[in-house]
Amino acid sequence: MTAPCAPSPELDLPVAPLLEPVTFAGLPLSSRFVMAPMTRAHSPGGVPTPEVAGYYRRRAEHGIGLIVTEGVLIGHPTAGHEDAVPRMTAGAAEAGWRRVVDEVHAAGGRIAAQLWHLGSLREPVDGRPAWTPSGVREPGRPVSHAMTVADLDELLEAYAGAARVAARVGFDAVEIHAAHGYLLDEFLWSFTNRRTDAFGGSPVRRAAFPAAVVRAVRTDFPADRPVIVRFSQFKERRFDARIAQDPGELEAILGALAEAGASALHASQRRFWEPAFAGSALNLAGWAKRLTGLPTITVGSVGLTRDFLRSTGPESVSGLAARVAAGEFDLVALGRILLGNPAWVSHAGAGRLDAIVDYRKAHEDTYR
Ligand SMILES: Cc1cc2nc3c(=O)[nH]c(=O)nc-3n(C[C@H](O)[C@H](O)[C@H](O)COP(=O)(O)O)c2cc1C
Repeated sequence: MTAPCAPSPELDLPVAPLLEPVTFAGLPLSSRFVMAPMTRAHSPGGVPTPEVAGYYRRRAEHGIGLIVTEGVLIGHPTAGHEDAVPRMTAGAAEAGWRRVVDEVHAAGGRIAAQLWHLGSLREPVDGRPAWTPSGVREPGRPVSHAMTVADLDELLEAYAGAARVAARVGFDAVEIHAAHGYLLDEFLWSFTNRRTDAFGGSPVRRAAFPAAVVRAVRTDFPADRPVIVRFSQFKERRFDARIAQDPGELEAILGALAEAGASALHASQRRFWEPAFAGSALNLAGWAKRLTGLPTITVGSVGLTRDFLRSTGPESVSGLAARVAAGEFDLVALGRILLGNPAWVSHAGAGRLDAIVDYRKAHEDTYR
């Protein structure tokens, strides 16, 4: 059952507008809060267990409008190596995901599957090197395989296959992971993409393979359910890296993704209040929305301590709600704070700061 998360009217909290129902890329949601994708490695053999279903259901019960699952490996041997990271197409994974989706729906929530290929961040397995755009990795990392055009086609089919399973299982949306230095982001970033064919060079050419993935997924995922693309400037191992030096380059990249059929964009940044480019206060999701007209999700250090709910500056809930009210972006994703506080949205909505614990690194070792 859905627990009450609407604030008492007399509280008049700044979080209240974020708790109102909203339609996002055609998807009706109970609130503007999203659970950010977080790899938890609790799916032995790649199969989500009943415990995983309960973990997601609890966030839906407590006011999260849209859950984005942890990264789910597409069905290709180069996608990832860790046993307990969930798969989409392996054996019993489909039944495991069906349980997850059914429980989230029963709690009144919606859920998107994040489709993932690690690219160079996959360790070599059985002597097979990682697949990357140009064989270029961070200094000191093992050699990788520069993908041929036939390899690209093989992966397009693997993404499409994962989208077909996600559709069959009942996911409300899919999110293509093109952020943080993994395979699709390695195409977007000029440091790792040195290709001289149609998939490398200018920003729009670097976006050609990620756009082909969007097209393949869009074709095989029901037209009335959104295909979201997550992107970032930073890389997991390089916080200062950028795929776009200025708004014009970002427009070229995101324009290619939009034209390929992306329904919405999830702009990953580390702190939501930081401007994406000099000369404007817009954050990355704000720029994405302005440049493409697509609905967007913001993320980055939302609610990590209770001060977020108490203070009034740009980093607070008031600052965040003002940006939503101004139409800068549409949804707000919560990551780390949800690890130790499955009911964060309910408690914040009811003004129950006493029931919230500030984020601590140790929460990443818990699973509840
Ligand atoms: C434990 C953990 C696992 C994560 N796994 C993923 C992932 O699988 N896919 C992804 O796109 N981002 C992943 N992220 C990044 C989060 O989605 C989010 O962008 C980040 O934590 C910033 O949001 P926060 O400040 O609210 O935590 C992960 C973050 C954490 C802490």
